[in-house]
Amino acid sequence: MKAIVITTPGGPEVLQLQEVEDPQVKDDEVLIKIEATALNLADTFQRKGFHPPPKGVSEYPGLECSGTIEAVGRNVSRWKIGDQVCALLNGGGYAEKVAVPAGQVLPIPSGVSLKDATSFPEVASTVWSTVFMTSHLSAGETFLVHGGSSGIGTFAIQIAKYRGARVFVTAGSEEKLAFCKESGADVCINYKTEDFVARVKEETGGRGVDVILDCVGAAYYQQNLESLSIDGRLFIIGFLGGTHREIDLRPLLAKRLTVQGAGLRNRSLENKAAIISEVEKNVWPAIAAGKVKPIVFKHFPLSEAAEAHRLIESSKHIGKILLVP
Ligand SMILES: NC(=O)c1ccc[n+]([C@@H]2O[C@H](COP(=O)([O-])OP(=O)(O)OC[C@H]3O[C@@H](n4cnc5c(N)ncnc54)[C@H](OP(=O)(O)O)[C@@H]3O)[C@@H](O)[C@H]2O)c1
Repeated sequence: MKAIVITTPGGPEVLQLQEVEDPQVKDDEVLIKIEATALNLADTFQRKGFHPPPKGVSEYPGLECSGTIEAVGRNVSRWKIGDQVCALLNGGGYAEKVAVPAGQVLPIPSGVSLKDATSFPEVASTVWSTVFMTSHLSAGETFLVHGGSSGIGTFAIQIAKYRGARVFVTAGSEEKLAFCKESGADVCINYKTEDFVARVKEETGGRGVDVILDCVGAAYYQQNLESLSIDGRLFIIGFLGGTHREIDLRPLLAKRLTVQGAGLRNRSLENKAAIISEVEKNVWPAIAAGKVKPIVFKHFPLSEAAEAHRLIESSKHIGKILLVP
């Protein structure tokens, strides 16, 4: 098969389409012939050599895909050859085929094309496992997501609105904020021109928000603590603003705050399967009802993976970027 190989750690040009061995399907896995894969910012970290695949996992990038099942391991009962599916991958999505543990496979949500379905597994698993399974965002609460126009952000806005939350977003341009508003965000904050803490306080009558999903890390840590309400919950999933900073911790005690963080890729297979099962139960009905839509910015042929990486690193996109073998 053909796959995108990271020929050496570096810039987008190190991504090259090469002829490689087909993946071998293990007893608990299925083999998917890939219709499309989607980019995640983490793929660019892997390309640069900062985010190596876990042991035993395909070295090709790509954390999600959609496609058709071509082979089934002997312990797999739910899926059969010919099923159209999408899947959360441990790696290996930038290819024509991938082997994936059966517990990480999902049906195509009704109303979504086979190609566009690849835009859901990574964002749905990340947002559901953090904001809902862990931080317990509930109807009537307020929710702030940083990077509102990102793949993660565009999904988080829609699912949080569907679940009855009031949604706040930050983003770096008026065009991105307009898109967030159209997708359902209630309060849209341009972090380049506005102080988001002041705006959150103003919009909540001084109370603060109940839950924050943060991909900025150190640069926003203090402001995030200040933006939370009593019993507020901060979930950190990224460090776009670095990992080190001096912090005044007093809001933690004064407001009984909870701060948590997690990566998705390094979780155990059992843990990922449990998340996928919750996603199917709780998120898939929202997609089938048309309340959560795939937000696809652009498709590229797999051979143009380098160009797709240049686009995601330029931050000019809104939502997901797809690669099609
Ligand atoms: N822990 C996990 O399991 C997990 C899983 C998936 C994703 N993530 C993280 O979630 C984030 C979003 O991922 P994605 O793939 O959806 O990314 P994406 O679509 O590439 O979007 C990233 C967005 O972050 C914003 N941004 C960049 N630098 C920023 C900064 N210094 N301050 C504020 N905003 C900044 C950019 O928008 P602006 O133009 O508005 O700046 C950009 O659109 C990434 O940090 C990623 O690593 C974590």
